[in-house]
Amino acid sequence: MINYSIKKDPATNIDFITLENGTLKATFLNFGARMYEFFAPDKNGLSENIFLSIQPKYLLDDPAQFGALVGPVAGRIKKGQWKEHQFELNNGQNHLHGGSKGWWNQFWDYQVEEHEKSISVTFKLIDTSSGYPGPIKISNTYELTTDAIIMTTHCISDQDTIVNPTNHVYFNLSGNAKRDITSHILQINARKLLETDTELIPTGQVLPVAGTPYDFSKGNSLKEALIKIPAGIDDAFWLDDKSPQIILSEQESGRRVTISGNRQAVVVFTATGLDLDLPMTFGDNMHSQAGIALETQELPDIVNHPEWGSIDLKNSEEKVFQTIYQVTTF
Ligand code: GAL
Repeated sequence: MINYSIKKDPATNIDFITLENGTLKATFLNFGARMYEFFAPDKNGLSENIFLSIQPKYLLDDPAQFGALVGPVAGRIKKGQWKEHQFELNNGQNHLHGGSKGWWNQFWDYQVEEHEKSISVTFKLIDTSSGYPGPIKISNTYELTTDAIIMTTHCISDQDTIVNPTNHVYFNLSGNAKRDITSHILQINARKLLETDTELIPTGQVLPVAGTPYDFSKGNSLKEALIKIPAGIDDAFWLDDKSPQIILSEQESGRRVTISGNRQAVVVFTATGLDLDLPMTFGDNMHSQAGIALETQELPDIVNHPEWGSIDLKNSEEKVFQTIYQVTTF
């Protein structure tokens, strides 16, 4: 059954837009074009939230981009410089996630559309706040099918600029975050990883993952990986040209999320060290390894490494990015 409802939270003025299709129910927000909650059945048919969701009153001060569409450029840009432009330095000496006025921290317009077999919400923004050349016009659609959320982002600008959006949702497939991500298995179809310096800026070296704890090509336990990488994973994997790109699963709930799309890389962030005084809807505070962000994007700091590709958005050019999050049980 296809259905939707909209509720405004009077304290924050944020609209909570809930779409339903069959056994799936997902809530999106007009603040940050966010994915907020995603209720999906476990292997026994029990429907629970597989995203980390912070309590609504904390959303306007969210320090960790929960579920948000991050842009114009996700990740870090060294010293915040691109050509003659200086972007905000909001992460030490560097620029992160489009800055403090990035897309994740702005209110968007939106429209819900019912289709024959799916339902979607399209968020629209004309970005004049981030400080990037533009304005960049963005349309970001989340389409809920009977087994997936399909995220499609269109970007166009009146001036030459750069775009590298991602969604920063934290997954936890145990259901209402009752177990940490150490109970999960992660598979990434990537043979290469970017080396980073102490400020998490890519050094330019591209390293093979084979024989290291970063080799997730066969599906590895995050518990075992995090024992070998105690500082946590906050790294960019260069995806192989293969679909699907990423599979996250949890044995006990029998839930699996399969990610595919047209992006070059994924930044995996295990939220290690993110022990915050920030209550989630389940009661717990946000803490290390409560969730895992799988941020599909082009490689970070690519403006300083043209040999890896380009995130240029030329005047009047349109770029379309897509990521599909399919949920199944096993
Ligand atoms: C990640 C980033 C982390 C941290 C986090 C905060 O994408 O790689 O270093 O900044 O976002 O949301």
